Amino acid sequence: MALLYNRNIWSAVLTTNFCHQIKNLWTEIQNSRMAKWSSIVAAVSLTVFMMSVTAATVLPIHRYLKVEDTFISQLYDTSNYGFLQIDNGLARTPQMGWSTWNFFACNINETVIKETADALISTGLASLGYTYVNIDDCWSRSTRNLKGEMIADPKTFPSGIKALADYVHSKGLKLGVYSDAGIFTCQVRPGSLFQEKNDAELWASWGVDYLKYDNCYNLDLPPQKRYPPMRDALNDTGRTIFYALCEWGIDDPAKWAGKIGNSWRTTDDINDTWISMTTIADINNKWASYAGPGGWNDPDMLEVGNGGMNYHEYKGHFSIWALMKAPLIIGCDVRNITADTLKILSNKEVIAVDQDPLGVQGRRVYASGPDGCQQVWAGPLSRNRLAMVLWNRCSKAATIIAKWSVIGLEPSISVSMRDLWKHEVVSENTVGSFSARVNAHGCEMYILTPQRATRSSI
Ligand SMILES: *[C@@H]1O[C@H](CO)[C@@H](O)[C@H](O)[C@H]1NC(C)=O
Ligand SMILES: *[C@@H]1O[C@H](CO)[C@@H](O)[C@H](O)[C@H]1NC(C)=O
Ligand SMILES: *[C@@H]1O[C@H](CO)[C@@H](O)[C@H](O)[C@H]1NC(C)=O
Ligand SMILES: *[C@@H]1O[C@H](CO)[C@@H](O)[C@H](O)[C@H]1NC(C)=O
Repeated sequence: MALLYNRNIWSAVLTTNFCHQIKNLWTEIQNSRMAKWSSIVAAVSLTVFMMSVTAATVLPIHRYLKVEDTFISQLYDTSNYGFLQIDNGLARTPQMGWSTWNFFACNINETVIKETADALISTGLASLGYTYVNIDDCWSRSTRNLKGEMIADPKTFPSGIKALADYVHSKGLKLGVYSDAGIFTCQVRPGSLFQEKNDAELWASWGVDYLKYDNCYNLDLPPQKRYPPMRDALNDTGRTIFYALCEWGIDDPAKWAGKIGNSWRTTDDINDTWISMTTIADINNKWASYAGPGGWNDPDMLEVGNGGMNYHEYKGHFSIWALMKAPLIIGCDVRNITADTLKILSNKEVIAVDQDPLGVQGRRVYASGPDGCQQVWAGPLSRNRLAMVLWNRCSKAATIIAKWSVIGLEPSISVSMRDLWKHEVVSENTVGSFSARVNAHGCEMYILTPQRATRSSI
């Protein structure tokens, strides 16, 4: 099997005896939790198992390490691959859901959140995996009560957050809240710095399932001091709560946040423009080697459907976020969603790339044309497959070519190409390279499956 691929990248794709190695490896991981993951990986030389979310299937990870060729090793470097560094049972694949912020900002109330929960169900988005219903900033009153507790804003959330959590849970969905690793939130509501334990206990008592933890009014204390106390406070509640760090990428959280949270923002806030989305994609791309099951790079929530970009641009936004194993948190008004927006957000095949159990972040592997605007992004998937996006960031339509050498395949490999937007196999046996005409600011996305039947070398 390994011979199908360029050895430097795809060696040891499957081993026959990996089941026997799992127990030993798992013990090693448990025993060396404080050790650098990279050294574990290098030492164990490697078959990591992963439990998929639904079935207890056991999967191997590709081994990319000890490669001689520098270009190739940088291509899909997984030397920092984070694997269950924070082991709270969550984020085996990137989180999916919806958040109030990108569309509503502070204009929120319990009605709009209930209606959105209903809409996630009626549109079918919930059944595709979008299950977190996250309230961002502005849910709480601007002062704590006499007991020092945060309380929901009585004007906008008169029934309180517990009632809302009960409602959301009754739909089979999960509820998220927001706070800040500072003395105030960005919209100047109470922050949780130094109050982690009480706040976490309160949220847990309400039935909260997710916390986004922001970075405003942080007294210039280092994030490595401000974020761990909330991890421990959440853990101490005994309730399983997803912990999403929102440190804006300032202190390179990819390097340290894997042991603290289930995801960490790598950039400043996204906004609904092409320049913001592409800039953020490029920054998030730099940290690709650090993502993995349990903890993900977060290039911020989706703007798909908010009106500032066209259909092609949103399709690229969604495709690249999925290739990068980004959290897929919808940011539009789901109650009033258009057919085009729904078509993008409910593309099952693209979602499956994001949720692939191998959990290796795809990345930009090639750029040509003016300012490098004709780009090839790719990444490994489970079952020896590869995901690829041809992303045309030029202002004119262009033909983008992906040579096998740039995506890490041996030139002679014959590949079946499935187009994830046309939903069909567009070629059964492509060899050496693949090219497609791509709209201005558009993309095409594929899964490449090497054709075992046609290989001659094994
Ligand atoms: C709740 O919020 C939505 C969205 O901002 C708004 O349209 C609606 O008028 C609000 N409802 C109430 C009762 O304030
Ligand atoms: C708390 O942390 C421990 C150690 O990582 C983990 O095993 C446990 O599942 C966590 N509990 C919760 C509720 O997150
Ligand atoms: C949107 O993001 C871009 C790129 O980061 C930035 O230059 C611009 O100022 C932002 N726009 C707004 C309205 O925040
Ligand atoms: C629904 O969306 C359309 C645009 O797609 C917009 O014109 C309209 O104002 C929206 N309606 C509401 C109630 O937000």
